[in-house]
Amino acid sequence: MAKSTGALKTQPLTLTQEFILMLLNEETGYFHQVAGWNLNCAVVGAALGELSLRSRIDTDMESLFLVDRTETGNSALDPILKEIADEPVQRNTQYWIEKLAPRAESILDSVLDNLVDQRILEHHEGDFWTLAPSVWHTDQTSDSQEGAPGEFIKTRINKAIFLNEIPDPRDIIIICLVNTCDVLRFIFQLDEAAEKRIEFLCKMDLIGRAIAEAVGQSIVAPSLRRPSLTKPIPAVSLRDLVFNRELREGRLPAGFANLAKKYGPVFELRLPFRQNIIFLVGLKTNEWAQRMGRVFLRSKEYFEEVDRAYGVSRSMHSVDGADHFRFRKSLKPAYSPKTLTNRLDDVYDLTRAHMASWDVGSTMPAQVMLRPLLNAQSSPLLASIDTQDEIVDALKYKVRVLNVGIMKMMPRFMLKTPGMRRWAKVTQKIVDRMQSTHTAAQRVGMHEDVVDAYLALHATDPQFLPESDLSLPLGAILMTAMYMGDQVGFALYWLLQNPELYERVTAEADALWAEGDPREDDLSLDRIDVTHRVLMEALRMSPIAPFSMRTVMNTCVVEGFELPVGAQLVIAQTATHYSEEVFPDPWTFDIERYAPPRNEHLSRGYAPFGLGTHSCLGSRWANLHMAINLLMLTHHFKIELARPYKRLPMDPYPSQSPSNKLKFRLAELRHEIRV
Ligand code: HEM
Repeated sequence: MAKSTGALKTQPLTLTQEFILMLLNEETGYFHQVAGWNLNCAVVGAALGELSLRSRIDTDMESLFLVDRTETGNSALDPILKEIADEPVQRNTQYWIEKLAPRAESILDSVLDNLVDQRILEHHEGDFWTLAPSVWHTDQTSDSQEGAPGEFIKTRINKAIFLNEIPDPRDIIIICLVNTCDVLRFIFQLDEAAEKRIEFLCKMDLIGRAIAEAVGQSIVAPSLRRPSLTKPIPAVSLRDLVFNRELREGRLPAGFANLAKKYGPVFELRLPFRQNIIFLVGLKTNEWAQRMGRVFLRSKEYFEEVDRAYGVSRSMHSVDGADHFRFRKSLKPAYSPKTLTNRLDDVYDLTRAHMASWDVGSTMPAQVMLRPLLNAQSSPLLASIDTQDEIVDALKYKVRVLNVGIMKMMPRFMLKTPGMRRWAKVTQKIVDRMQSTHTAAQRVGMHEDVVDAYLALHATDPQFLPESDLSLPLGAILMTAMYMGDQVGFALYWLLQNPELYERVTAEADALWAEGDPREDDLSLDRIDVTHRVLMEALRMSPIAPFSMRTVMNTCVVEGFELPVGAQLVIAQTATHYSEEVFPDPWTFDIERYAPPRNEHLSRGYAPFGLGTHSCLGSRWANLHMAINLLMLTHHFKIELARPYKRLPMDPYPSQSPSNKLKFRLAELRHEIRV
């Protein structure tokens, strides 16, 4: 179908593309769930349907014939056509569907990429997809008299089912396939008449019938869905844990990578008095978590104790599915780098005002120096308030909650100590201040910040986000100062260990500030290239968030190991940062990894911002904000390590942070700080 979306002219869509568009669920930002094998069969069925419509093959209920082996020019279809053409024996459709089903994932990837390239779908961080606004608009406003070719697939199928319009053969194949996957009832409100009509339509086209029937038969062949024999999950011995130097010294990614060398990609930690924990480590498990996590895993259990400590019933971190997508969709604009670049003058002024309070010649622990520096900016930018007086106590509260609730490193009563009660009050005071400064009258003419975005979501749907659930998201805003401050601390450490890079970053900073404060365009990637790659490499070697925790909600098999319902998982997504296969010579700080032709970060082995649906919503903000801070630090000061360090001193929990042993000295003021 040729698709014309206003000024945008696109390629004709293939049957596979339209089948995928048909499955798109705008509420969840993903596709109506069709179990993996079933979806694979249906995707291949759609590809065979397309080949048949292009007169390359023909199918009937018994067999599938090659008609013409001339390539179609479509990269997803041609390998399938070749395989059919090269087969010496004639096979039936079911044979081909089952044989080709393992290829479905790559077909699906190329279909999705192509729909995004054509600006029919929009791809969002966390692997969510929505229909591009231009497509919606065109479909809503298109004149129905224009006929089917320009219409969005769902509209055409709707007309075929409910208005008794005669569908063309391609639409019949799609109806047959979607019906076989049993998701039509989730897409449309089907009454008895509609169901009868679908049954009738599915019989109208022989090709559609043949393919749908073959897909249906493949779907009911359960032996093909899962490997029948799964392997027992190896348990890590206490000795290997205790003698793992990396784990002992707090370098979790390297520690997990070491364990994976001995135990493989899935292993279990059995600890007394707590549930066993299964670890997923490696490129393949990262790819699985990215792609399949949404179907099999959830965040509720691992985060519920944190929710409880903040007195909320749920939060963006602890929900999944459509509600989670709704959170992300509503908050995405506020977390985008645009909200940062809209306020660049504030960023520079706040940074300088804080730096001006430092004494040249002094030595400071990385945390003491950099968390307040970042908080001096992030509280005003994200929440339009100053929290410098309270940030230390508010962070103590959150860190303790994470250590008790998520890491289970401390007993529960540690949440009730007098110190915790005091810090809880400070946190609540900040949250109250965030709310009281965000009344409509006070926000007139102000840039929208993250608090505005949460309050707007609450105002538009107080049942979805009640007032009683606001304290955690608002309190969590403060954590960004800790995460970015610690990560900038790591980057500074690596720079100081690599003097040549330190000079190159300083040169980039001096060039940018040569004629006053840089504007948004000046901060383009080519002008902050070295700084950006230094941060990328610091995020690889010392990521502040090295793993994610989840609970298995549907039994699944990963790398041949069955993960049972209720199992507690640690997805050690950054262990691959220390894998020779993904990052050769992983212990060397080397920013050339991120330049062509190496581009080592382009696989799922690079995951400092997490994987899957909960991956960091602020990653682009964080990258830009940290780059600005690193640049301003090197522009204004000559900084030195307080003493030589053989290895980066780290504390691993609840996030990896520079330990108090890591200290920086402000050796010289290079450029005056004008406040
Ligand atoms: C060095 C800086 C940062 C790193 C390495 C980082 C990393 C991460 C990671 C790994 C996750 C996923 C957690 C999980 O899977 O359970 C995450 C989630 C999140 N991050 Fe970040 N983050 C950083 C800074 C920021 C900043 C500055 C913001 C806001 C401006 C932010 C906002 C968020 C949000 C809202 C989520 C929750 C997403 C969801 O649950 O859907 N992060 N971050």
